[in-house]
Amino acid sequence: MADVEQLQQDYLAQIASADLAGLEEIRIAALGKQGAISGLLKTLGQMSAEERQEQGPRINGAREAVTAAITTRKDALEGAALNARLAAEAIDLTLPPAASAQGSVHPVSQVMDELAEIFADLGFAVATGPEIESGWYNFTALNMPETHPARAMHDTFYFPDRNAQGEEMLLRTHTSPVQIRTMMAQKPPIRIIAPGRTYRSDSDATHTPMFHQVEGLVIDKGITMAHLKWTLETFVKAFFERDDIVLRLRPSYFPFTEPSAEVDVGFTVEKGKRVIGGDPTGPNGGWMEILGSGMVNRKVIEHCGLDPDVWQGFAFGCGIDRLAMLKYGMDDLRAFFDGDLRWLKHYGFSSLDVPTLSGGVGA
Ligand code: PHE
Repeated sequence: MADVEQLQQDYLAQIASADLAGLEEIRIAALGKQGAISGLLKTLGQMSAEERQEQGPRINGAREAVTAAITTRKDALEGAALNARLAAEAIDLTLPPAASAQGSVHPVSQVMDELAEIFADLGFAVATGPEIESGWYNFTALNMPETHPARAMHDTFYFPDRNAQGEEMLLRTHTSPVQIRTMMAQKPPIRIIAPGRTYRSDSDATHTPMFHQVEGLVIDKGITMAHLKWTLETFVKAFFERDDIVLRLRPSYFPFTEPSAEVDVGFTVEKGKRVIGGDPTGPNGGWMEILGSGMVNRKVIEHCGLDPDVWQGFAFGCGIDRLAMLKYGMDDLRAFFDGDLRWLKHYGFSSLDVPTLSGGVGA
């Protein structure tokens, strides 16, 4: 039975150089049900008592030696694999973190935030309305009936289909329909601004088919144009952060206001650039139109179910993109909507830079 020792030697030699998969093969070959050492153990039953006494310890010794060698080798291999993984996955905490892309706030969003901030201090809430409007909200309720020539003044994007009520549907040409929606949904007194997207079929360096407006609406008792002028003056001074800004109200016409006024702001040329403020009548000065306004037409108030002998007020509408260009010095409107990240990096704002009146708007 010298072959028991030989068998043990052979297995121990194989185990010493086996990998994890090899170890399992050796275990099955030696100790599995059909294994060589298992087979030898079975022969013990057929032996005489003396023979068994002699062979038993040899065969069992071989089984134990092989089992122990497999366990030891397996532990060593698994330990080495773990150490290799730990070494490979080590994190160097002293390295700088990988840079993540940082976004910035678009100037239009920034100006909308500034408007909300300034007008909140004057007691105005922010109202919104849909960008897809019916002809009734966009025109009719605003005193522009089907046949009114003012309906053609706006080069409008109409939808091919009418809504369930048979009304023509369009992309709103101004934020003024929010006046109607607000007067119909709320009881006066009303003080709101409504910033948002508007659409007209226009396209050149100063017009894009989609642009932004802010509407203002005040409805209360005893409101006059003096309230309108004071509100606009207070707004413009806070927005452009200058006290020496003058306004000029020019008579104008809008179907939904009566009387109507276009509002010009005084500018001066400083270092070749137009800046809002200073003396518009001086040698470097001039007037620039910035918004349309007026006292809300009685017919509009009536359309909203209110009594115009009790309630009256003013409204104004102003281009937000234009305000951003004037305040932050961009000269091509189209760049606002190109989605060029370099432009946004240059003109964009930090999302942490929240405008506040106390900190200086836009500071
Ligand atoms: N809705 C007008 C426009 O888009 C602006 C305006 C608003 C005028 C409110 C007067 C009152 O041109």
